[in-house]
Amino acid sequence: MTEPAAPDVFARARFRLALLFAGIVVILVVASSVITYLNVRSDLQTAARGAFGSGETEQEFVTRSLGAFRWRLLFVDGAVILAVGIGGLLFARSTLRPIRDNVAAQKRFVADASHELRTPLAIMKTDFQVALRDPRFAEEARLVLLSGLEEVDRMTGMVEDLLTLSRIDAHQEPLVAERFDLAALARQTTQKLAGLAAARDVRVQAGGADLAPAVGDERHTQRALANVLKNALEHSPPGGTVEVESVVAGGVSSVTVKDHGEGITPGELEHIFDRFYRVDPARSQERGGSGLGLAIARWALRRMGGDLVAESTVGSGTRMTLTLPTPRS
Ligand SMILES: Nc1ncnc2c1ncn2[C@@H]1O[C@H](COP(=O)(O)OP(=O)(O)OP(=O)(O)O)[C@@H](O)[C@H]1O
Ligand SMILES: [Mg+2]
Repeated sequence: MTEPAAPDVFARARFRLALLFAGIVVILVVASSVITYLNVRSDLQTAARGAFGSGETEQEFVTRSLGAFRWRLLFVDGAVILAVGIGGLLFARSTLRPIRDNVAAQKRFVADASHELRTPLAIMKTDFQVALRDPRFAEEARLVLLSGLEEVDRMTGMVEDLLTLSRIDAHQEPLVAERFDLAALARQTTQKLAGLAAARDVRVQAGGADLAPAVGDERHTQRALANVLKNALEHSPPGGTVEVESVVAGGVSSVTVKDHGEGITPGELEHIFDRFYRVDPARSQERGGSGLGLAIARWALRRMGGDLVAESTVGSGTRMTLTLPTPRS
């Protein structure tokens, strides 16, 4: 049996919002027409009766009536617009509530699911590692275990990213402000990814300042650097080069990571920092990417008073610049 279709909250919200919009227009039109009609009628009746103010000529009466009419219209229009605005706000809130609840439920699910997945993944990892140390396993079995271990590591990375995202949304992702050397962190990260660079036959050229004092969360910065460097390595052609350079200038420490890969088109460049965005989903999936790396990296760097920006030219490569403020004293 198939599941009954979930009620389409978007379709209902669209209908209610369209109704709200039409309602507001009707109220505005009717209210201003009624007010104009009543005012004009009352003035015309006065004029018909010839009951002008004492010593007032017809011309003076018309001028006075028009002046008063203008002010009344302004006041009443203001009151109607205010009432409609407040009413619209309240109504829109109730219209959007089911959508907000839905989004909140999905976020809760992602948070719970990634939390629940952590333990079995950790157990699998330990089991694989223990099995790999067992001499009774033949070489073929060992290769299978190694490949399994790699997949578990990838999944653990994705689950960690999803959990971080949930914590960011719940304003529960802590960031500390500590002093550290960004240049040293860039060197460490490059070393950590030396295996990937070798596997992809890409040479990493590290240079620039020896010391780049920075203030921010070192763990998050390391994660951001690792993602940027990993992206550069994965998008480099075999035999290519990735340049990593640390710079200190104008109260800012930065690291640029430049590759000579296929590059990113201007239209795609706008989106690479969006959550779950991947230029080539099939290729990204193949290497286990979830499209969260840059979104989390930029969020963290901006929260630390720094930034992460990308420049790219199709066919010649991409340059990512990660910046952080330097310590004040
Ligand atoms: N140096 C680069 N050259 C070309 N495209 C890039 C480069 N860096 C990032 N991209 C594109 O931007 C997308 C988003 O990058 P991001 O790091 O956020 O995700 P990912 O690498 O696919 O997955 P993960 O969450 O594992 O990092 C990538 O899928 C890729 O298409
Ligand atoms: Mg990435």
